[in-house]
Amino acid sequence: MIFNAAVVTCSDKGARGERVDTSGEYIKEFLQEKGFNVIEKVIITDDIDTIKNKLLYFADEIKVDLIITTGGTGFSPRDNTPEATKSVILRDVPGIGEMLRAESYKVTPRAYLSRGISGIRNRTLIINLPGSLKAVKENLSFLGDVLNHGLKILKLIDTECGV
Ligand code: MTE
Repeated sequence: MIFNAAVVTCSDKGARGERVDTSGEYIKEFLQEKGFNVIEKVIITDDIDTIKNKLLYFADEIKVDLIITTGGTGFSPRDNTPEATKSVILRDVPGIGEMLRAESYKVTPRAYLSRGISGIRNRTLIINLPGSLKAVKENLSFLGDVLNHGLKILKLIDTECGV
């Protein structure tokens, strides 16, 4: 089973073309290497409705299996990604954010400044990652087989958890 994915970079500067989207690109390549079919990678502003509408588009219209966002999880007044995500998910997956922060804390105490969340809308898993390329690389390395196993359960490909 090949999972479909979308990558959403939330960055005012990126959307204005003032910053190269290395983080989104890294996520896209990471997913492709893991065998995902990355349908689209987009760069949008930090506007909460823009993020919300993009998540709804990928979850409800394109029906991707996975959306990974990057950016907009911190304390800046324009960091709206967790709020936009919260407004579209139907089930919380608190463990992913907990695990990412706990593992990231071993690298930097600033890990706990990310308010990123994860959750499920119908058959789509949404995961927020921080914005910097460094943080993205670290966070993706911590996900391990969680992505694949979680998606298999979500898509009813696996119904038993052996380990
Ligand atoms: N997580 C990891 N693994 N590595 C990092 O360098 N940076 C932190 C945190 N999470 C970081 C990390 C910092 S400094 C911030 S401010 C928050 O993510 C929020 O980042 P964002 O606003 O770009 O989403």
